[in-house]
Amino acid sequence: MNDSRFDTVIRSASVFDGSGAPAFEADVAIRGDRIAEIGKVEARGAVEIDATGRALAPGFIDVHSHDDYSVLVTPEMDFKVMQGVTADVVGNCGFGAAPNPAAGAMFRAMFGEASVPEWTGYPQYLDVIDRNPPSLNVAVLVGHGTLRFAAMQGIHQREPTAAEIETMRGWLREAIDAGAVGLSTGLIYEPGRYSTTAEIIEIARAMTGTGALYASHMRNEAAQLLDAIAETIRISEQAGVAVQISHHKASGRANWGKVRASLGLIEQARARGLDVSADQYPYTSGSTVLQAVLQNDALGDGRGGVGRVGPEHVLLASVPKMPHFEGKTLEHVATEFDLPAKAAAEKLVRENGMGLVVVIEMMDEADVRTVMRHPSTMIGSDGIALGSKPHPRLYGTFPRVLGRYARDLGLLTLEDAVHRMTGMPAAKFHLKDRGFIRTGAFADLVLFDPGTVADTATYDDPRRYPTGISHVFVNGTAVVRDGLHTGARPGRALRRDA
Ligand code: CU
Ligand code: ZN
Repeated sequence: MNDSRFDTVIRSASVFDGSGAPAFEADVAIRGDRIAEIGKVEARGAVEIDATGRALAPGFIDVHSHDDYSVLVTPEMDFKVMQGVTADVVGNCGFGAAPNPAAGAMFRAMFGEASVPEWTGYPQYLDVIDRNPPSLNVAVLVGHGTLRFAAMQGIHQREPTAAEIETMRGWLREAIDAGAVGLSTGLIYEPGRYSTTAEIIEIARAMTGTGALYASHMRNEAAQLLDAIAETIRISEQAGVAVQISHHKASGRANWGKVRASLGLIEQARARGLDVSADQYPYTSGSTVLQAVLQNDALGDGRGGVGRVGPEHVLLASVPKMPHFEGKTLEHVATEFDLPAKAAAEKLVRENGMGLVVVIEMMDEADVRTVMRHPSTMIGSDGIALGSKPHPRLYGTFPRVLGRYARDLGLLTLEDAVHRMTGMPAAKFHLKDRGFIRTGAFADLVLFDPGTVADTATYDDPRRYPTGISHVFVNGTAVVRDGLHTGARPGRALRRDA
């Protein structure tokens, strides 16, 4: 018999409530999937946790993920929940989970054949998540590239017809009505790169007044970074939707320092009353498909969206047909193939396709810090769960911000760092009763040691869990207990609060 009033009581924690306000000591009681009481909790819980000396925060919200398929293929999502992530926003950079069969074709090109349940549009995808729950919650962005591919029946370097636009708007509206949080674009990728500003505005107008937002991997993060920021802000203004700039950065040595000007443009837009924010992963390397690096001529003159990249700075993360190259540089492979770097990259893409993901050293550490300090920045991993040498951001993003940047470098207070991964994204993405420790909110919680929390994933050895995170709760259920994954899968599809 169990006469406890609560399922779990976490005692004497230092509570970071997600708002950015100073931490305070309290007990937090969980009943069912909600936080039932905060303060001096008299009644006992079936489970009692002494959290003296530890920090209790809302579960982290990864606003920039590519886990649309991973949440079904690897539903325990260890690489995320072991970081304290309790919600993933999937569908970034224009790559979306619907409609099918277009989405399936794009994802299979990246992730290979995997057995996942079937769905048609976004409403069905959300239902599939609810029926096949992963360990964390999932909020969904609609991928513009996928809509375009499906509506135009392939990749086309032309404007869509009025009928094709209407088709895309119809799918988007159906998704938004079902609870999707917004629309994403990937304007360096196929087929998003062929779309004009006017096309995106027309499609995004299907979201006006709904609270859904526009998230963009912009056309250029290098020489034309400022033009790209201006385009993104114009789309926000003319479509009447909030905007989220994905992985804010200046790529390529020639462009380092430009983030001061891009932050200036964001500040001006915010001063005019526009809802403009960004996300960032805390590393100086990026990661993307090698095909896009080639298409943007990053190994050539660097005038494309990625900037100029030397083959010695390109690390192969996932090479489906030639896994022995994972962890090697493009320079190494070029020598082995006895080809110039660009020809070697073309051969790699020809033989491995879209699943060939690389990690590219491209940013300035000073820029990373400048962006992180800015109040417009929240945290998103941009992790890509492919290959044996994925970018370490897949495993390390959140503890790296808390440990290295907040505690060790003092760049942010711990309260502020937690806010940028919890309350700030929950408000921006309209995730009701998430992102804050409040009575009645969902019990998505992370318990960690602020003195030891740290990422351990490196470029050489990226598939390593962080340290210092002892418990993670999703909808009141422990998915991590005493530093170990419990196997529980209490996640849900999160539907935007209108
Ligand atoms: Cu991305
Ligand atoms: Zn991106």
